[in-house]
Amino acid sequence: MMGLAWGVCCLLVVAAGARAGVVHPPAGHTFNTSDYLQQRRAILAQEQTDILGQDQVLSAEEEEANKILMAAKDAEMEDGFQTLDFLPSKNFMTVIQQMEESQVFKIIRQMPKGAALHLHDTALASASWVVQELTYWPHLYMCYDTDDHLFFRFFEKPDTSCAWELVSAVRSNYVDPSEFDAMLFSKLSLLTEDPNEKYPDINTVWSIFQGYFIAITDLVMYRPAWEAYLYHALGEFADDNVLYVEFRGTLPPLYELNGTRLTEEESVAVYRDTTQRFVNDNPDRFFGARFIYAPPRGVDNATVHEYVSLMKRLKKAFPDFVAGFDLVGQEDKGEPLIAFVDELLQLSEADIRVFYHAGETNWMGMETDDNIIDALLLNASRIGHGYALVKHPEAKALARERDVPMEVCPISNQVLKLVEDLRNHPAAGLVAEGFPIVVSPDDPGAWGASGLSYDMYEAFMAFGGAKADLRFLKQLAINSINYSSLDDVTEYDLMYKWVEKWNEFVAKAPTLLAEKHCQPHRRS
Ligand SMILES: *[C@@H]1O[C@H](CO)[C@@H](O)[C@H](O)[C@H]1NC(C)=O
Ligand SMILES: *[C@@H]1O[C@H](CO)[C@@H](O)[C@H](O)[C@H]1NC(C)=O
Ligand SMILES: *[C@@H]1O[C@H](CO)[C@@H](O)[C@H](O)[C@H]1NC(C)=O
Ligand SMILES: *[C@@H]1O[C@H](CO)[C@@H](O)[C@H](O)[C@H]1NC(C)=O
Ligand SMILES: *[C@@H]1O[C@H](CO)[C@@H](O)[C@H](O)[C@H]1NC(C)=O
Ligand SMILES: [Zn+2]
Repeated sequence: MMGLAWGVCCLLVVAAGARAGVVHPPAGHTFNTSDYLQQRRAILAQEQTDILGQDQVLSAEEEEANKILMAAKDAEMEDGFQTLDFLPSKNFMTVIQQMEESQVFKIIRQMPKGAALHLHDTALASASWVVQELTYWPHLYMCYDTDDHLFFRFFEKPDTSCAWELVSAVRSNYVDPSEFDAMLFSKLSLLTEDPNEKYPDINTVWSIFQGYFIAITDLVMYRPAWEAYLYHALGEFADDNVLYVEFRGTLPPLYELNGTRLTEEESVAVYRDTTQRFVNDNPDRFFGARFIYAPPRGVDNATVHEYVSLMKRLKKAFPDFVAGFDLVGQEDKGEPLIAFVDELLQLSEADIRVFYHAGETNWMGMETDDNIIDALLLNASRIGHGYALVKHPEAKALARERDVPMEVCPISNQVLKLVEDLRNHPAAGLVAEGFPIVVSPDDPGAWGASGLSYDMYEAFMAFGGAKADLRFLKQLAINSINYSSLDDVTEYDLMYKWVEKWNEFVAKAPTLLAEKHCQPHRRS
């Protein structure tokens, strides 16, 4: 970075990377009004062309769709500006219903959104479905451990590790079973009406979030339950007009009713076969899914060594289904990437792609904050969150140069307490300068979202500001395909399929707002 003085012209030079086209005022010149207005127009025009997606050229039909979209958006922005009541500024869990009523949201629901690239296996599907479907399956037991964590498990005959009770028996003790179901729902979701009280800080919300994973993991890792869960989850994405997903998972072994545990390879085969079955059943509306092995980061070198050797085996056994590697968990509490650098370099040597969570932190300058640099040096194909990127100009320049996108998860960052008002999310700055990002839901099932539309709405309204239009949404869809882990030929097929869907969407845009068939998935 050059040490420039902060005059208007220098601001322009720095921000724009010395692009052509902007007229700089001559030094020492005194403006008259028309000169002044000319400068002002030039700056605004340049900024407008920098916004993500602005070099997309819209067809006449797309322009029509854009008018409809922007009429809805302008009305919502204007209303927000007048009342100072704006959905992306408020905790998602308190505005879900209002969002579902938004015209902009309804259009986004209908829009082919491409791919969702940042997701986690046990938070893919709506909690309401889990409660209404899976907890009604026979042979399901529940138990509280000494820390008051709720566990579930399917058994032929319960073991003695806990005071297991049959879920159906507990439910039948309730006069009103829906009360019991509401209790289950509260353990299988973070959804609450008063998130600001219930989750005052990042540690509280992460500890409850961990409780969520404890509750849901053994429930869905029963092999038949996992098949039903994954199949249903892919359906939620397909219903939301998402064609393709890449989901991460810690790969807890699947188990059978008699207690037999599948190996990791057998478990991944179930993931792959379930995905294939869903694609075969829905060839017109779903393209596929891939898996990123993403075990917990709060471990020692020996454990990461095990991870790496399992990763190598998986890559060999499932070259088309397993996309690569990541490490997960609350970043500030886990080990930084640098603590495992010897092991992680083995992955590069084996030519295995990595997709590290990095920079999901507000702790600038602490060791977690450097993860973003390690992720880039370890040649991550994409970076999970990258929330801290804007505080690292060198890393940011490197990401730009190597075309490494940030996987931005707006609702996740808000619910998990990195930011309150999504207009203050650093991605707003990245969008303003056209930095490569993809938008993804992270753990939609954990907080009452479903599919990608809720996050796309937040991104459109909060990151894009008043000016981002259809080109922004189109670019995000294109990015989500372009930055997938698919090989070029398969990626081209996906892009082709998306373009078909996109053209259908654009053609029917004029009737979109009149139609009522775009009701989002209902939750209890
Ligand atoms: C403003 O100044 C420019 C020179 O910088 C001159 O060409 C122009 O005529 C002036 N306009 C007015 C309205 O005085
Ligand atoms: C356990 O159940 C699975 C699936 O039903 C079956 O394949 C396996 O043979 C059983 N194992 C034992 C030890 O009964
Ligand atoms: C792993 O080993 C390296 C030395 O090779 C050490 O610096 C690092 O702290 C170790 N990581 C952990 C998590 O203990
Ligand atoms: C990352 O990629 C660069 C450029 O392709 C290469 O020179 C470097 O060795 C790679 N580093 C790792 C850790 O894979
Ligand atoms: C995909 O990304 C590459 C850069 O990685 C870019 O050159 C290309 O134009 C992009 N494709 C589309 C369709 O945007
Ligand atoms: Zn994540």
